[in-house]
Amino acid sequence: MRYGMKVVGGPSSQELGRRVAEALGLPLMETSTKRFPDGEFYFRYLGGVSGEDLLIVQSLYPPQDEHLLELLAMIHAARDLAADSITLYIPYLAYSRQDERYLAGECVTSDLVRSLLEGVGADALYTVDIHSIGVLKRYRIPAYNLTAAGELARYFAEKGLRDPLILAPDDEEMALERVRHAAEVMDAEYDYFRKERDRHTGEIKTYAKELSVGGRDVVIIDDIISTGRTTANAARILKELGAARVYAGVTHLLLRGDALQLIEAAGVEEVVGTDSVPGGLSRVSVAPLIAEALNP
Ligand code: R5P
Repeated sequence: MRYGMKVVGGPSSQELGRRVAEALGLPLMETSTKRFPDGEFYFRYLGGVSGEDLLIVQSLYPPQDEHLLELLAMIHAARDLAADSITLYIPYLAYSRQDERYLAGECVTSDLVRSLLEGVGADALYTVDIHSIGVLKRYRIPAYNLTAAGELARYFAEKGLRDPLILAPDDEEMALERVRHAAEVMDAEYDYFRKERDRHTGEIKTYAKELSVGGRDVVIIDDIISTGRTTANAARILKELGAARVYAGVTHLLLRGDALQLIEAAGVEEVVGTDSVPGGLSRVSVAPLIAEALNP
């Protein structure tokens, strides 16, 4: 940890900013923000910035574009006011799912975000459970991925689950890493389903397979719930296979539209997220992750 660091909580992550400052034992810098009548954003640091090492906390959950502009304003002002270094903690790094040009002519939006953050003057980036590690590999500044899988697992470990199985609802590399980690913390087994997404319609198909979950509790661990279809598909299959109770622990609970109803209708007992996306179900904090990363 850099002892002189000051934490700044951006508009999307005020509470998380406070938790990060507390976890690191660092001061929280006061700021002033507002929206002008036409919707434009205003930002001001109320403490001295010149020569300081800043840790800016701002998660980019919806509305992503507004939160991104707010973050860019904070970085720009810090650079302009001669901050010594600017470290970003962006638990939810929006646009990371558009990490390649899947269809001809597409914008690789994750790379646009990289170029904006670097261009405006960030020195280092920490994020949590990024969808694809390839996104961070393109960064020229140091860029690190942390995982909340262990924190989510600790939450479920308190529940006294019956012979739990930890499940990844797809077989992507990062998803498997997360369930391995969670299973280790819970001293449980893990497995995964295979899932395909139609690039044109967004339709998701999850493939059932034999799993010995009869009478057991299952915890689905994933990075994101957006439409809820990935979690709902997995839960439905698990219930058909005879799972007792199905839980979902997900880092970034975006929960768009009727996602929660869909998941509940599929038989999920409880959905738990982190304060990467603040909300009533965000019962786990990602503050300890950055504290551990900066102050190992
Ligand atoms: C993608 O593969 C991710 O790991 C998540 O499973 C996905 O983004 C969840 O999206 P949705 O809730 O819309 O199915």
